[in-house]
Amino acid sequence: MTDYILEMRGITKTFPGVKALENVNLKVKEGEVHALCGENGAGKSTLMKVLSGVYPYGSYEGDILFKGQVCQFKDIKSSEALGIVIIHQELALIPYLSIAENIFLGNEQQSAKGVVDWNETNVKAKEMLAKVGLQESPATLIHNLGVGKQQLVEIAKALSKRVKLLILDEPTAALNEEDSENLLNLILTFKRQGIASIIISHKLNEIAKVADSITILRDGKTIETLDMKADEVTEDRIIKGMVGRDLTHRYPERVPKIGETIFEVRNWNVYHPQHLERKVIDNVHLHIRKGEIVGIAGLMGSGRTELAMSIFGRSYGRNISGQIFKDGKEVQLRTISQAIDNGIAYVTEDRKNYGLILIDDIKRNISMASLGKISRRSVVNENEEIVVAESFRKKMNIKTPSVRQLTGNLSGGNQQKVVLSKWIFSGPDVLILDEPTRGIDVGAKYEIYTIINQLAAEGKGILIISSELPEILGMSDRIYIMSEGRITGEVNREEASQETLMKYMTKSRG
Ligand SMILES: Nc1ncnc2c1ncn2[C@@H]1O[C@H](COP(=O)(O)OP(=O)(O)OP(=O)(O)O)[C@@H](O)[C@H]1O
Ligand SMILES: [Mg+2]
Repeated sequence: MTDYILEMRGITKTFPGVKALENVNLKVKEGEVHALCGENGAGKSTLMKVLSGVYPYGSYEGDILFKGQVCQFKDIKSSEALGIVIIHQELALIPYLSIAENIFLGNEQQSAKGVVDWNETNVKAKEMLAKVGLQESPATLIHNLGVGKQQLVEIAKALSKRVKLLILDEPTAALNEEDSENLLNLILTFKRQGIASIIISHKLNEIAKVADSITILRDGKTIETLDMKADEVTEDRIIKGMVGRDLTHRYPERVPKIGETIFEVRNWNVYHPQHLERKVIDNVHLHIRKGEIVGIAGLMGSGRTELAMSIFGRSYGRNISGQIFKDGKEVQLRTISQAIDNGIAYVTEDRKNYGLILIDDIKRNISMASLGKISRRSVVNENEEIVVAESFRKKMNIKTPSVRQLTGNLSGGNQQKVVLSKWIFSGPDVLILDEPTRGIDVGAKYEIYTIINQLAAEGKGILIISSELPEILGMSDRIYIMSEGRITGEVNREEASQETLMKYMTKSRG
């Protein structure tokens, strides 16, 4: 007889107009790594929110048994008390507090007199950081860390809570290959210490690497639970379970039609916004031609996002110098609106902070960067806004009962589709896409690639930043590689391979 640390039985959860979960069953064995897979909107995050008490007892149907005991969690604290700790898909750290403060938020280390003991807090925080391999000082403010490091802080925070079942909702979505690898190894280390985990990920190669079992959800229903080894589960097998059919190609076919240079950056130099002596971007040159898809590869911290943001209306950096040419003419992109007016769009990697207003509805998020297009005398025509949003809902296959739905209520992948819609609607000539398929399921990725290819076929210039090398290799006509703020290599599609890219990615100033 197998011991299950967790059994979720017949879980049903509805939102107005949406049946997010229907009679879902999930069984996790003691000490195993259990993967939860499914398309965007399949119900993965919702199921984990039911488990962790985010959706309290009474707001769903069905039973939760933890170590054989029926549980009726009334909030997150009550599930944490049993050692169930969830790390959410959208990171939930407080940007202007330090690492240490975030780790012990609500769980402060107190001295005998009941005041917060900051020495103790810092010492403990350092210990936790060491466990996840983070070298930062506990006093560092969260907003000075990249998303990858924030993820590690979240895990350090979980460790401080004596975790027995760790739930990771797309933990590596924001991480590059090396950091993802470290994180997966961390999960395996926890496993050896007897900590079970549930991991949600759209990166199927990672699932294959760490998971012992996998449960596949589709449209809010359990499709199957498989034993990774005994059932010889392959990536294709998982995809079939997720989408209900075979998906033979991961990248759509395309014959590029490349024209004149549409966008060019010369001698681009950018300094760090706080540490003015630190050069973040060092003499970068790049160009994009009409109809061309150009990739930028690089490790985390190599300066890819800083480069893109500094170009896009100087939304990052200080003391920026260099020239930008659009259709051969020099342009000034000193503000985001100047960039938009010049036909440049930037789809951010950090959709929560820069890309979307989660408390506003889908239609407004899509029209936000182009209100002029649907306004008469500065008054937004709401009917037109709805028509536009509806067309994107169809084109991008955004899963929602209504475009009046709050964007914050969409599943992660569907939020990403809204960000993309917003920028495509702005009608750009040059589209900079920073991690465009982060958190997107394999089927929807294919749809997004098809849309990107269409934009290129219309003669737009596309720049794709991605940490997934297969994506860079599968989509780009030409690839720049960045390391330490410089472009260390440039390769054409034909000569590009994972190895060549890695070689340039790890090239240091030496
Ligand atoms: N608070 C909410 N209000 C209304 N609908 C919601 C809410 N939360 C989730 N939903 C809907 O429930 C369904 C399941 O969403 P969920 O976030 O669980 O998907 P997911 O499997 O985690 O997807 P992804 O891979 O994109 O993160 C979706 O259709 C989503 O729009
Ligand atoms: Mg989710």
